[in-house]
Order: sequence, then C-alpha cells, then structure tokens
Amino acid sequence: MANWFYGAYVIAVALLHIVNNIVMPAGLWKSYSVYSGAVDAMAQWWYGHNGVAFLLTVGYLAMMYYFVPKQAQRPIYSYRLSIVHFWALISIYMWAGPHHLHYTALPDWAQSVGMVFSVILLAPSWGGAMNGILTLSGVWHKLRTDPILKFLIVAISFYMIATFEGPMLSIKTVNSLSHYTDWTVGHVHAGTLGWVAMISIGSLYALYPRLLGLPGMYSTRLIDTHFWMHTIGVVFYIVSMWIAGITQGLMWRATNADGTLTYSFVESLVATYPYYLGRLLGGLLVLSGMCLMGWHMWKTWKMARGVAEHPVLAPDFAEAKA
Ligand code: HEM
Ligand code: HEM
Repeated sequence: MANWFYGAYVIAVALLHIVNNIVMPAGLWKSYSVYSGAVDAMAQWWYGHNGVAFLLTVGYLAMMYYFVPKQAQRPIYSYRLSIVHFWALISIYMWAGPHHLHYTALPDWAQSVGMVFSVILLAPSWGGAMNGILTLSGVWHKLRTDPILKFLIVAISFYMIATFEGPMLSIKTVNSLSHYTDWTVGHVHAGTLGWVAMISIGSLYALYPRLLGLPGMYSTRLIDTHFWMHTIGVVFYIVSMWIAGITQGLMWRATNADGTLTYSFVESLVATYPYYLGRLLGGLLVLSGMCLMGWHMWKTWKMARGVAEHPVLAPDFAEAKA
C-alpha cells in the first residue's frame, strides 16, 4: 500500500505540473498560457488543491502505511480498507479544487461541484486515518512507552482534524466567514505542522537508528520531550488561528444600522494581535523541538560505529537472522 501511495504521489505531481504549464508558443523564447480568465483560475486551483492532496497528503499516507505497522509490530488493520481508501481518495480529491474559488467569477455550479466533492472527501480521509489508528488494536499500551508511535498516531489525529475542518470550510456559507481570514491559516497548519511534520518526524526517528545499525535513538526520553514540545506548539498555533480567524470574519461582516461597516480593517488587525503572539509561542516551541531533534540525531550518530551489516533490518531482527 505504501508503494501505491508513493506511486500516486510521483505520477500525480508530474501530471499537475504538466497540465498547469501547458502553453502556446509565440516564438522561440516567448509563449502564452493556454488558459485565461476564470478557466485559468480553475486550472491553477486544480493544481493548487491537488498539490495539497498529492504533495502534502498522499506521500505521507505512504509513510503511515509503512511506519505505523512497522513501529507497532502489527499488520495494518484492514488491507481491504486500504485498497478502498486508495481508490476513493484518488478519485474524489481531483474534483475538490473549486472550493478555493467560492464567490468568485467561477460559475456557481462549478463551485457547488467542488463543495459536494469536498464534503464527500471526509469519508475516505477518515476511513484511511482509522485504518492507521486501529492498527494499534490490542497493543494500545505501546503508546505509553513508545514516543515514536505517539508521534505517528497524533499525526494521524491532526490529519483527522484537518480533514474534518476542510469539508466544513468548503461549505459556501462557512467559507463566506472563513475565507481571507486566519482560520484558513490554522487549517493549513493543522495539516502541515500537525500531520505532515509529525508523521515525518516519527518516521525519521524510526528510520535513523536502523540506518546506523543501532537498536534505537540515543534517548527515548528526548523523543518524548520533543513530542510534547511539538504537540503543544501545534495546539498553540491552530487554536490561536481559529480564534483570530473567527474574530476577523465576524468583525469584517459586522454592519451598523445604516449599512456602514462597524469596524475598520486596522481594528480587526489590532484585535488579532494577541493571537499572533500565541502563534509565535507555538512556532518557537516547534522550532526548539526541531533543534532538540537535530542535537539528538548528532548524539545518536556519535553512538554508531562503522557501517551497519544489515542497514534495512532492525538490529534485533538482523541478530535473530544471523
Ligand atoms: C478532506 C480534506 C480537505 C478539504 C476538503 C480541505 C478544504 C479546504 C478549504 C475549503 C480551504 C479554504 C479555501 C479558502 O477559503 O480559500 C482549504 C485551504 C487549504 N488547505 Fe485544506 N482541506 C483538506 C485537507 C487538507 C490537508 C490535509 C492539508 C495539508 C496537509 C490542507 C492544506 C490546505 C492549504 C495549504 C490551504 C490554503 C490554500 C491557500 O493558500 O489558500 N488541507 N482547504
Ligand atoms: C514553526 C513552524 C511554522 C510556522 C511558525 C509557520 C508560520 C506561517 C505563517 C506566519 C504563514 C503566513 C500566513 C498568512 O498568510 O498570514 C504560513 C503560511 C504557510 N505555511 Fe507555515 N509555518 C510553519 C511551518 C510550516 C510547515 C512545516 C509547512 C509545510 C509542511 C507550512 C506550510 C505553509 C503553507 C502552505 C502556507 C500558506 C498558507 C496559505 O496560503 O493560507 N508551514 N506559515
């Protein structure tokens, strides 16, 4: 399954670049995009949204399918579900792009198609996430002692938050409040900092000692500390942006009895200021966690001696084989 997801990632990202960059030559060094106006906007958001889908999601689902079973020492919860997950996700994601163009010159029916596909997208997203989380059935206790598994499972939980929030934001009436506000930015980072970063960090902690032929990282406690720094940092980031975004949306749409705006733009910016400090704090926690990880990797590197005999096998497994 991991290979399927990686395959889709490589093929789709290439396809997106090719289609989005189709041009008409108008000389040796000059060319014009074949798209114009609203069609251009649609082509670019088809590219943009599928960038989220295939660059920021599918490759990381591949990591989930490989590293969660590996780290939990359990087979994936359901192989059948993973096949349904793959095809449903691939076929639905491609149609959701117009949710980035609500209330624009894009025809209304196209916006509605994007909205409907985005709402349906909740099902394969959560189905796939549950497949990852339920892989821990029977070994939940490992979460208490294995912070790498905590990184992987909490990453999937942030993925569930982002993919619940996304369909909600794509509903036109919700989007009329959220669009242009920091709510979108909060959603983005639930996906990128929560899901993409945490699944990558967990996978790196699992992979790195194996590459060096070591039984594990230098210190499990340091991984746990990093886990809490990162998780609390992400929570600070996204909660600040939720409050900031909804405040902005409500202030921008408030009108007086005579139809004039209640607040100027600067007033909304002033109201947002404390939440930007909340995000700064979250960001600093995440950054410090990454510095800790860098130092930890260096300490682990120092523990390794020579070239591992079986770099792709866990050392205990390699020993058993020998
Ligand atoms: C079911 C899945 C998802 C749906 C339906 C969805 C839907 C949406 C919607 C409606 C917006 C706001 C559009 C706007 O008002 O401008 C948005 C923005 C965004 N989402 Fe998601 N989202 C999903 C999952 C994710 C995930 C998992 C990530 C990251 C890993 C992500 C990254 C982004 C980004 C980067 C933007 C901002 C795009 C921009 O620059 O305007 N989304 N998404
Ligand atoms: C400590 C970590 C991070 C901090 C403090 C941070 C902060 C920010 C800020 C301030 C913005 C601009 C928001 C605006 O337009 O007002 C932004 C945008 C963005 N960031 Fe991050 N970021 C972090 C990590 C990441 C990571 C790891 C990724 C990707 C994996 C990412 C992806 C994005 C994207 C796609 C946007 C554009 C969002 C949009 O168009 O709405 N960020 N980030």
